[in-house]
Amino acid sequence: MRKINVGVVGATGVVGETFLNLIDEREFPFGELRLFASENSLGQTRKCADQEFPVQTLTEGCFNGLDLVFFSSGDDISQEWAPKAVAAGAYAVDNSAAFRMDSKFPLIVPDVTGDLLPKASATSNDGATIIANPNCSTIQLVVALAPLAKKYGLKSVRVASYQSVSGAGRNGIEELLTTTRVALEGEEITKSATFPAPIAFNCIPQIGRIGEDGFCTEETKIMKETAKILRLPSLPVSAFTVRVPTLNSHAEAVWATLEKNVTSLNEITGTLAGAPGVELVDESPGYPMQTSASGQDPVYVGRVHRDHADPNTWLMWVVSDNLRKGAALNGIQIAEHIFDLK
Ligand SMILES: NC(=O)c1ccc[n+]([C@@H]2O[C@H](COP(=O)([O-])OP(=O)(O)OC[C@H]3O[C@@H](n4cnc5c(N)ncnc54)[C@H](OP(=O)(O)O)[C@@H]3O)[C@@H](O)[C@H]2O)c1
Repeated sequence: MRKINVGVVGATGVVGETFLNLIDEREFPFGELRLFASENSLGQTRKCADQEFPVQTLTEGCFNGLDLVFFSSGDDISQEWAPKAVAAGAYAVDNSAAFRMDSKFPLIVPDVTGDLLPKASATSNDGATIIANPNCSTIQLVVALAPLAKKYGLKSVRVASYQSVSGAGRNGIEELLTTTRVALEGEEITKSATFPAPIAFNCIPQIGRIGEDGFCTEETKIMKETAKILRLPSLPVSAFTVRVPTLNSHAEAVWATLEKNVTSLNEITGTLAGAPGVELVDESPGYPMQTSASGQDPVYVGRVHRDHADPNTWLMWVVSDNLRKGAALNGIQIAEHIFDLK
């Protein structure tokens, strides 16, 4: 089997470390493994598949000889360095928002748009390109919506999200843990270094900057990316995103309005249960939650029920690990498709 030379940019971050865990867990057939982070991490190492790898910084020529580079360092780094990875002959799988809405690049959730992926040949990377990994909250939403859209048609979608602090990276996790301890000791928390407001014992109805239309950037990402991935450019999608004081995994309350009138709950749950990437939770209590979804691969769907206000609208509760399916797992699955590994 072909050995694939892999780079991970942002290897010391929470998504980067999840990439390393998954490369090991899924026995990804890597030859060389090169890890990149900022100057702050120079001198550090990270472990993968029982070997230690040094962390290096990004320098001209640093991708030479690599077949595949995972980017998880933010928009500016991807914007500058992902084209350089492609110029060096590697597929660049990008977790940032830099290329997602650019029509030149595919936006991929393999369970939904795997057919748009290029395929590497057994010996070369002809056709190497940037492949955009969607936003974490978009990925779990489209995995749950795609089977309904395919079978019944989708008229509109509304979603309210409950997003964990790991979505804001390592600083988000550290801030929740530290400020929760401080608050429990009786001290008042008045400021946040990571979020728009203190997160301990709080829900914050803003993720990213709020624009002139009143929507924040996370909501805009969900609305635009969902329509692009489902290949329904005029699909009305309305999102309201909230940061909640949970550590990991995002939850979403979803209202999906179907074109077709389906009267049977069993038919809807049957469609969801057989869908790629979805695990239907119908045993007591009948819904997934953040703590049980963390560290797991599926997009969990529960509490499916029909709306009283509109019989074509179905409600569901969708939960998934934002670091795995929402980021690194989706990226690894993209690579597995490109290199024909699964
Ligand atoms: N967290 C999620 O759930 C999630 C989901 C989907 C997509 N994403 C995206 O994934 C990316 C990483 O997110 P994260 O949550 O893993 O953040 P994070 O924990 O803050 O990690 C950021 C990573 O970027 C590295 N970095 C910073 N400046 C750099 C530079 N100049 N050169 C090279 N590397 C640099 C950091 O290295 P140092 O440790 O040396 O600072 C660290 O490895 C972001 O684009 C984010 O939007 C995140």
